[in-house]
Amino acid sequence: MQKEHVLTMGEMMPAVDDALAARFEVHRSDADGIPSIVARHGPSIRAIATRGRELTTAALIDQLPALEIIANFGVGYDSINLPAAVRRGVVVTNTPRVLDDEVADLAVGLLLATVRKLPQADRWVRAGRWLEAPFPLSPTLRDRTVGIVGMGRIGERIARRIAAFDVPVVYHARHARSDMPWRHYPDLIAMAREVDTLVVIVPGGTATRHLINAKVLAALGPRGILINVARGSVVDEGALVRALQDGAILGAGLDVFADEPRVPPALLEIDNVVVLPHVGSATHHTRSIMGQLVVDNLVSWFEGRGPLTPVPETPWPRPAPKATPGIGGIP
Ligand code: NAP
Ligand code: 8YV
Repeated sequence: MQKEHVLTMGEMMPAVDDALAARFEVHRSDADGIPSIVARHGPSIRAIATRGRELTTAALIDQLPALEIIANFGVGYDSINLPAAVRRGVVVTNTPRVLDDEVADLAVGLLLATVRKLPQADRWVRAGRWLEAPFPLSPTLRDRTVGIVGMGRIGERIARRIAAFDVPVVYHARHARSDMPWRHYPDLIAMAREVDTLVVIVPGGTATRHLINAKVLAALGPRGILINVARGSVVDEGALVRALQDGAILGAGLDVFADEPRVPPALLEIDNVVVLPHVGSATHHTRSIMGQLVVDNLVSWFEGRGPLTPVPETPWPRPAPKATPGIGGIP
C-alpha cells in the first residue's frame, strides 16, 4: 500500500513519532527543516501533525497543494492560520476534552502557589532563611472571589474545583451558560471590579489579544491576582509588568507567555510572580492520550471515516452548500 505523506511540525513525543511512522511516510521538520521537506516532497504531503508551538502559516499551507488535514497536538490551535485552512478546504483537528482535568488541576495549583507564595516559601527554606526568621505571612484564598475568564470545557472544571474550596466563583464569556450556577458577567471590566482574582482560560488569537489589559488590571485593583493558563497573547505583558511594579495589582501566576520560551526579564525580577514553562497538560498520562488522539485523527481521516475531533471552523461532515436561487426563480 502506498503510504500517505505526513509532515510533522516541531518535536513530537517519541510514541507519536513511532505510531505515525508505522502507518505513514513521515517527514519530520525537526530533522530535515521545512524548506527542504517542502522542496522535495511538497506536492505529496497530504497531512500535517503539529506540536502546536510552530506557526502553520498561510504560506506553508499554500505550498502544499495536496494538503487535506492538519492535526494539532493541543486544544488551542491559534498557531494555525485557520482562514487559510478554511479557504483551501483543509480540515483542522485538535485535542479537546482529554486534557480538561489536567489543565484545571494545574490552574488551581498555580492559583494556590501564587496566593500562598509556595515557590517563594520553598526558596526561603532552601536558602537557609528559616533558620533566621519565619516566612512572612501571605495573602489568602479565604477572602477572595474568583472570576473565571472563559467558561468553556476547562473553565468549567476550574470553576468546579474552586467552588469546592468554598470560594465564590463568577465568570466572563461572551455568552451566558444556562447550565451553570455561577453568575455571568457579559462585561469583563465590570467583573474585574467586583472580584480580586482572575483565572484566564480563553482561546488565543486575534479575538482575545490583550483582553487582559491595563484597564482590566486597574479594575482588578491592588489586592488583585491574575492567573493565566490560556495563551500569552491574551495578556498585555507590558501592562502587566507595570501594574505589578506600581502595585496596581498584587501578584500573578503565569503558565503561558507571548513569546515562549522567552519570558520578559522584568517579570522575573518581581517577587510576587510565579512562572511556569507552559505545563498545563504536561504529564505523561495526559500527553500520551493527546498524542494518541492526533494519530487517531489522521488514521480515521485516511481510512475514510472522517476526523474524530474537528475544530468548529472546519466542521465534519461538511455542511451542504447553501442552495443559490436560480435566475427568474429557476432552482
Ligand atoms: P473552549 O471549551 O472552547 O472554551 C473557551 C471559552 O472561552 C468559552 O467559554 C468561550 O465562551 C470563551 N471565549 C472565547 N472567546 C472569547 C472572547 N473573545 N471573550 C471572552 N470569552 C471568550 O476551550 P477550552 O477547551 O476550555 O480551552 C481554552 C483554551 O485554553 C485553549 O484554547 C488554549 O488556548 C488554552 N489551554 C492552555 C493550556 C496550557 O497548557 N496552559 C492547556 C490547554 C488549553 P464564549 O464563546 O461564550 O465567549
Ligand atoms: C499543549 C496547550 O500541550 O492544549 C493546549 O492548548 O496549550 C497544551 O496542552 C500545547 O499546545 C502543546 O504544545
